[in-house]
Formats: sequence, structure tokens, C-alpha cells
Amino acid sequence: MKELIYKNDDLMPIIGLGTWESAPGEVSKAVLEAIKIGYRHIDCASIYGNEKEIGIGIREAIDSKIVEREDLWITSKLWNNSHGKENVIPALKQTLSDLQTDYLDLYLVHWPIAFKNEIINAKKADDFLSLEQQPISDTWQGMEEAVNLRLAHHIGVSNFSIKKLKSLIENSKIHPEMNQVEMHPYLQQRELVDYCHQNNIHVTGYSPLGRPKASKSKNESILLENEVINKISQKHNCSAAQVMLAWAMERNTAVIPKSVNPERLQENLDSSEIYLSNDDMNEITALNNNHRYIDGTFWVVENGPYTLKNLWD
Ligand code: A2P
Repeated sequence: MKELIYKNDDLMPIIGLGTWESAPGEVSKAVLEAIKIGYRHIDCASIYGNEKEIGIGIREAIDSKIVEREDLWITSKLWNNSHGKENVIPALKQTLSDLQTDYLDLYLVHWPIAFKNEIINAKKADDFLSLEQQPISDTWQGMEEAVNLRLAHHIGVSNFSIKKLKSLIENSKIHPEMNQVEMHPYLQQRELVDYCHQNNIHVTGYSPLGRPKASKSKNESILLENEVINKISQKHNCSAAQVMLAWAMERNTAVIPKSVNPERLQENLDSSEIYLSNDDMNEITALNNNHRYIDGTFWVVENGPYTLKNLWD
């Protein structure tokens, strides 16, 4: 499988296992199964509420000698209520304890959004802190400390615009090495990907399959059913999901499809063997319509500091 290379020569497998919405009761088994069939990259976050169960799956894989810790790439993310220099290390230590590991390969600031400490899910203006009250540059000092303490080998961000990345680069000693954003054929983020790649920042696409279950229930357009994607999948004798994952990898962007189902775990992993032609890539390029399945409206409340405009600036 292709790997993305970091400045210090560390290698991150380009496909990782996504764990958002993996139920705590199912995820230990899914993680163990994933590692058994060859996944070596697991994407987590404290807000997903399942890091303890993921930790159990990882521990089982290590104890049964399928892998050693060093063979795995483990990412996690700092939640919005732990912004601020002094809050980062305690939050990271909780994640490390839950995942039963001494270090993360990659730690990300989950959103450029800050909550008050005691708030887990902000719902009203008073639950939030603006980025003037709680600057990202201050939070980033805590992230840098995580690297200095070797608790995280690499640090980065998620859901950051070019503008926010530029400002972070100007105000940091250790530059971000990853930006994890929603990305799929309807939201290709070409300008952002180009900017990141020109500035030594890797990109990981979340929701690479376009949130098939959620979009069905919300009556949104279903990417897996797109005609062009399905035509290309027939040509390659593979599934629509595999075409979308192959498309992302062809662009040198990592992907973290979530699954707890053994067949789909295997199917997603096997997409690393599918190679799209230039024509396929061009046809997919034409599908972009800037559609966000995760549009950030949950951060926009009456009289609150965040708007869709200042989030996706
Ligand atoms: P499941 O865990 O039952 O496999 P996204 O990352 O875009 O949100 O997609 C994740 C969703 O897509 C999950 O609901 C997951 O369900 C489902 N899924 C994962 N892999 C595939 C696949 N290869 N084909 C169809 N659906 C998939």
C-alpha cells in the first residue's frame, strides 16, 4: 500500500480505518479484524466516545502478536473544549490512556472552534469561546509541547481553511503536518489540497464515501449512487466505494473510510490495488459541486461567535 512520507521520514499508510460513529459495542472487534486483515492506520478522536474500546482492540492485536505498536499509525484529535495551551496535554494523556498507548503518531486540533472547558456539546452562544478569546496560536503551543514531550510524533489540524493554515504557520515553531478535511468527488477541495501540498502539509479526506447512510436518511444526493462513479466502477470491475477511495489515493491524499463490517473493511482495503486512468480522474474532476455533508451548521448558534463564513474562510 502507498504511504505518505513525513519530513522526518516517518511513513503513514494512505488508507486508515475511520472510527467516527463506530459504536463502542462494535468497534473493538472491528479494529482487531481490521488489523488482522492488514490495516495499519487507525483514525480516532476523543469526541467519538469510543477510544477505550478502540484501545481494547489495539491491545488485543498487540497481545496476540499480530502487530507491534510501532507497526501502527494512530491518529487522534483534541476536542473543542480542550483548546488553550494548558489543556492540551491533559486531554492528550486521557486519549493515550484510553487507547492504551504511550504516544500518538499524529494529534490534530479537531476544529478551529473553541468551547468553554466544561462544555462537551455546545448548543448556545455562552458555551463557545471565540478565536479572539481563545486563539489557535495559544492552543498550538500545547500541541508543540506534545511533540517536545514525545507524546505525539506529529501534529496537525482538521477542518482548517487556507487562511487559518497561513496564520498558524506564521505563528508556530512546529508547522502543522496534516489537515484532515471532508473530501470526496463532490467536495474535491482542489485549492486547499494544492496549498497544503505546496507547504508540506499532508491531507486526509474524511467521509470519503459521502456519508451514505446519513445522506439517505436526510434525502441528500447519494454519492455512492452517482452514475459516473458507477460507470467507472463497472469498467474496473470493482465497487463505487473503491473508485472513490482509489481517486483520493491517486491524488496523494489519505482516506479513512469507516466500517465495522468485515466485508466492507476488506473491500475498502482492497481499493489500494485499483488504479484509475487519466480519463477516469478527469471524469471524476467534473463531478465537483462543493457539497459539504458536514457543513458546520452545528457550530452556528444565535449570537454565537461562529458563522459558516468565518468557519470556512
Ligand atoms: P458500515 O460500518 O456498516 O460499513 P463515510 O466515511 O463517508 O461516512 O462512510 C462511512 C459509512 O459508509 C458507514 O455508514 C459505513 O457503514 C459505510 N461503508 C463503509 N464502507 C463501505 C463500502 N465499501 N460500501 C458501502 N458502504 C460503506
